[in-house]
Amino acid sequence: MKAKKAEEIKKFVRERYAEIARQQTSSCCAPQSKEASSCCSSRTSEESRAHRLYSKEELESISANIPSLGCGNPTALSELKENEVVLDLGSGAGLDSILAAQKVGPGGRVFGLDMTPDMIRLARTNAKDLALDNVEFRLGEMEHMPIESSSVDVAISNCVINLSPDKDAVFGEVFRVLKPGGRLSVSDIVTYGELPAEIRGNLAQWAGCVAGALDEKKYLEKIRAAGFVQVELKEEGPHPYQEKTACGVQTGNQIASVTVTAYKPK
Ligand SMILES: C[S@@+](CC[C@H](N)C(=O)[O-])C[C@H]1O[C@@H](n2cnc3c(N)ncnc32)[C@H](O)[C@@H]1O
Repeated sequence: MKAKKAEEIKKFVRERYAEIARQQTSSCCAPQSKEASSCCSSRTSEESRAHRLYSKEELESISANIPSLGCGNPTALSELKENEVVLDLGSGAGLDSILAAQKVGPGGRVFGLDMTPDMIRLARTNAKDLALDNVEFRLGEMEHMPIESSSVDVAISNCVINLSPDKDAVFGEVFRVLKPGGRLSVSDIVTYGELPAEIRGNLAQWAGCVAGALDEKKYLEKIRAAGFVQVELKEEGPHPYQEKTACGVQTGNQIASVTVTAYKPK
């Protein structure tokens, strides 16, 4: 993809998520607009999404109303242990980072990375409200992360990598920052077969976690190409906010959410 197009996509995505953070009526989809109305949700659907994706115990442990903008629960799947260092790519309002911080305990550390300043502010407020001091939210892009090489035990990400115009750079960076033997646990959106051109070319659908999604096979190939081993598809489910249509175009079962795990060799 040309650099100018990639920048245009990032600018659009950042503006959309900034608006979502400010409104706090967020969704993985773009905020309500005529263009993207088919994939938008209300605060109520985010709350019910959180209830669908996370256990009662997890939600009670945060005792705060932090919206989920995700499509899975990568923290649960990554089996976090005390004292581990975790990186959450595209941390949004901070839900997964905060759950991870509770799981790794005071001896562990969590870095939430997000490119949208309003999201970083929201996540910091959410962590402060819970008096957590082992989680830090950093402003930055996952294509070139402000994170030291070989410093992270577990990288998690929830419905974010599909938003990047350069997924090779993202997986390359995750590989760089993980310690040897470190693991990746990612929930994301993938596609099956060719999506209609009017969806692929639509920026609102990009921000809505559809237009940038890769074919499942290609997604797994890119993770392997970055150097990861034991790349496994763990869970598969429907796209959490697309009802078989995008931009009014039928997409049938062409879009799904998946959770994938992978390891950096020792
Ligand atoms: C769909 S939301 C998911 C938020 C969070 N993971 C969750 O599950 O609630 C996507 C988030 O990724 C961030 N994001 C998108 N592209 C990014 C990039 N290239 N680098 C860093 N953050 C990015 C957005 O700012 C937004 O906060």
